[in-house]
Amino acid sequence: MANQLLKGKKGIIFGALDDQSIAWAVAEKCVEEGAQITLTNAPVALRFGQINELAEKLNAKVIPADATSMDDLSNLIDESMEVLGGKIDFILHSIGMSLNVRKKKDYTNLNYDWHHKTLDISAISFHRIMQLAYEKDAMNEWGSILALTYIASQRIFPDYSEMAEAKSLLESYARSFGYHFAKKNHVRVNTISQSPTLTTAGKGVAGFQDFYDYADKMSPLGNASGQECADYCIAMFSDLTRMVTMQNLYHDGGFSNMGMEPAVLGK
Ligand SMILES: NC(=O)c1ccc[n+]([C@@H]2O[C@H](COP(=O)([O-])OP(=O)(O)OC[C@H]3O[C@@H](n4cnc5c(N)ncnc54)[C@H](O)[C@@H]3O)[C@@H](O)[C@H]2O)c1
Repeated sequence: MANQLLKGKKGIIFGALDDQSIAWAVAEKCVEEGAQITLTNAPVALRFGQINELAEKLNAKVIPADATSMDDLSNLIDESMEVLGGKIDFILHSIGMSLNVRKKKDYTNLNYDWHHKTLDISAISFHRIMQLAYEKDAMNEWGSILALTYIASQRIFPDYSEMAEAKSLLESYARSFGYHFAKKNHVRVNTISQSPTLTTAGKGVAGFQDFYDYADKMSPLGNASGQECADYCIAMFSDLTRMVTMQNLYHDGGFSNMGMEPAVLGK
């Protein structure tokens, strides 16, 4: 149910590919809550995904940007401010891609060119976006910047491979840039560590369904859905969470604090 929590706010949403994407649900809820947004994704995703459908439904402009290109990102921020009519209140980074996983290269035998690309797309892009927004003074006072992450950044999940390092770096950027943005104009920066979710990126991880079922059993509340993740993002973009910054926030039904769950052993 909409409460106009984001009334009058302007935002940029990265990463809506299809209706399973977490960013898709976030975009829908942002508009329901009264925000105006622009949508962005890599040019190739615009050709193969369904983002134009979403844009039409939400009356939002799609601005293509490869998250590894400073020129694309710079244009995205300028054009978003133009279309939305002012500075930005919130940004969602919902981008992840592992070349080694996609090309089935084991963690113990990484291709380093691909590894660099993985880190660039999945983590350094977050710094790029924030650096440009900082330099351009594009964020409004008390704005909110979020990225989505996974607990494999902090604990071992062998099939997550090099994405574990990408997520560790992503979380570190939230802490470090969170400091500088707080000092500049009270903008907060956080990561949300989400349960396994059945999306294109999620299903790219080997044995995803087993992994999903395991986490669902292990979490006392069960896995958090993409829709529930979107609700949490809305709370974090709203003025109700203004003093939360530089945090990695678990949105995982309790999974991260579990040691052992008898149901996992079939008891
Ligand atoms: N699905 C899960 O289980 C899960 C769990 C925790 C965190 N996450 C994170 O949530 C975020 C969103 O993923 P999702 O599960 O919604 O899957 P998704 O596949 O729908 O979204 C990933 C997005 O990244 C975009 N992308 C890839 N390369 C890009 C580039 N060079 N430039 C710009 N965009 C690019 C894709 O086009 C896609 O829209 C990711 O950061 C993912 O790691 C997912």
